[in-house]
Amino acid sequence: TPTIDKLRIEPKGALGVDQSTGRIIGRAAHDGVTSAIDYVHEWTGDSAVSGENIEVVSLAHGQFLMPGLIDTHTHAPQFTFLGIGHDLPLMDWLNKYTFKHESEFKDNQWARKMYTEVINRVVRNGVTFAAYYGTIHVEATCILAEVIRSVGQRAYVGKVCMDANSPDYYSESTAESLEDSKEFVRRILNAETANAHGDQQKGQHIPLIKPIITPRFVPSCTGECLAGLSELAHKHELPIQSHLCENPSEVDFAKSCFPDCTSYSSIYDKHGLLKQGTIMAHCVHMSDEDLRLIRATGAGISHCPNSNFSLASGTADVHRFLSEGIPVGLGTDVGGGYSPSIIDSMRMAAAANRTLLAYKRDRGDFLEGRSAAPLEFSELIFLATQGGAQVMGMRDNLGSLEAGKLFDAIVVDLDVPRSPVPSSTFTPAVIAFGEGSVDAWRLRLEQFVFLADDRNIARVFVNGRLIHSV
Ligand code: GUN
Ligand code: FE
Repeated sequence: TPTIDKLRIEPKGALGVDQSTGRIIGRAAHDGVTSAIDYVHEWTGDSAVSGENIEVVSLAHGQFLMPGLIDTHTHAPQFTFLGIGHDLPLMDWLNKYTFKHESEFKDNQWARKMYTEVINRVVRNGVTFAAYYGTIHVEATCILAEVIRSVGQRAYVGKVCMDANSPDYYSESTAESLEDSKEFVRRILNAETANAHGDQQKGQHIPLIKPIITPRFVPSCTGECLAGLSELAHKHELPIQSHLCENPSEVDFAKSCFPDCTSYSSIYDKHGLLKQGTIMAHCVHMSDEDLRLIRATGAGISHCPNSNFSLASGTADVHRFLSEGIPVGLGTDVGGGYSPSIIDSMRMAAAANRTLLAYKRDRGDFLEGRSAAPLEFSELIFLATQGGAQVMGMRDNLGSLEAGKLFDAIVVDLDVPRSPVPSSTFTPAVIAFGEGSVDAWRLRLEQFVFLADDRNIARVFVNGRLIHSV
C-alpha cells in the first residue's frame, strides 16, 4: 500500500535486496521464468556479478511477502502486567499498576531479563520497527536499546521523563530528568556510531536505533522540563513521543496544570514539542484547536485502538485525521492495550471505526463533524506499514517494498498447522477465483488482517537481514 487508496498485489514476482546497504535494488512482477542472476544483472546494470554472490530466498505455497509492521507506540516495561488491570480508567490505572511495575526497572538484572523476553515477543509478531517507551531509568533504558540491537530490530527508544505529579517512589527532579535525558541521548548516539563503523556507505547510513525524546505526558512534566526536552530534541534532530487527549479527566488535568493554554496540544506546542517527527499517541478527545495545531506543525498520530477500548478511553476518529492530511500509524500501547501485535491493532482499528459508524447512524446528533466512512482492510494495512513509516518520519525509506527503500519485511504463512486463518480450501470464493490469482489473494489478505497472529509470521527481515524465522 504505497498510498492509502492503493493495494498492490503481485501474485508472481521477485525482489532484489543489497545486503551491504539493506536497500531494495529492484522489483519485478513476472509470470515468465527468469533466473535470479538475470534479475540482478538487470537491476544492478553489472553483468559481472556472479551467482556465488546471490542468495535466493523462495516463498512456499500459502506464503506472501509484505512490508514489516510498524508499532508507533508501545511501552516495553509494561509487558510485565500484560492483560492485567483493564478495569480502571487511565489515571487510576497509572497509579494502581503502571508506575509500580515501571519502578521495578531500577534493577538492571530485572530489566535485562524482561526486555529480552519483550523484544523477542515483539519481533515474533512481525514488528520490524517500533517506538518504545522505557522507564525513567537511564541504565535500564540503555539495556533495552542493547537488547534491541542484539536482536536486530529497528527502533526508537525513549527514556521517560516525569518531574511532576508522580509518586515519590517513581519520579525525578527537573534537573535529573534533563541531565539523564542528555546522558541517555549521548550514550545511544555513541553506541550507534560505533555500530556503523566499517559501514561502506556511512553518508547514507540510517542508524537502526535512535533515541526519542519522551516527556511521559503533560501532567507528569513541568514547563521547564518540557522546554528543556524540546531544546535537546532540536539540538540532535531527534523524534519526540508523548500522549495526547487520551481520556477526558486526563485532558482536564493537563489543562489545569497550564491554565494559560487553551488546549492540550497548545501546551506541547508552546514548549516547542510539536514538529514533523513528533508522535502523539491516542488523540481521542481532540478539540478543533488540537486538530489545527497537529495539522499545522506536521506532527503525527499513533492510533492505539486496543488500549482505547481496554481502558474505556474512547474511539479516535481516524478518517477525520486522514482527511485533514495528518500522518496516522497504529500503536499497540502495551500495557494499556493487551496485545503486542499490530495485526490485532489493525482489526481493533476496524472495530473502533465501525463503532463510530454505528453511533453516527443511530445518534448522529452526538457526532457532528465526525467522519462516517468505513476503513477498508487495505487502509488498515496502509496504517500498519506506510502510515506508520510516515508517523516515524521515515516515509521515503520504509513502509512499502519499492526500489530504493530499506528492506524491512515479513513473510506471512497462511498455511500453518492450527492456523487461525482457515485453509484456502475452506474459502470457496478463493477456489472460485482460482488460487494464486489477484482476487484470491485479496480475500486471503483480508483474512490475514482479521484472523492472523504470530503463528502466521514465518520470517522477519530488518535492513536486509533475516532476524527471525520459525
Ligand atoms: N499516559 C501517560 N502515561 C501513559 C501510559 O503509560 N499509558 C497510556 N496508555 N497512557 C499514558
Ligand atoms: Fe502509552
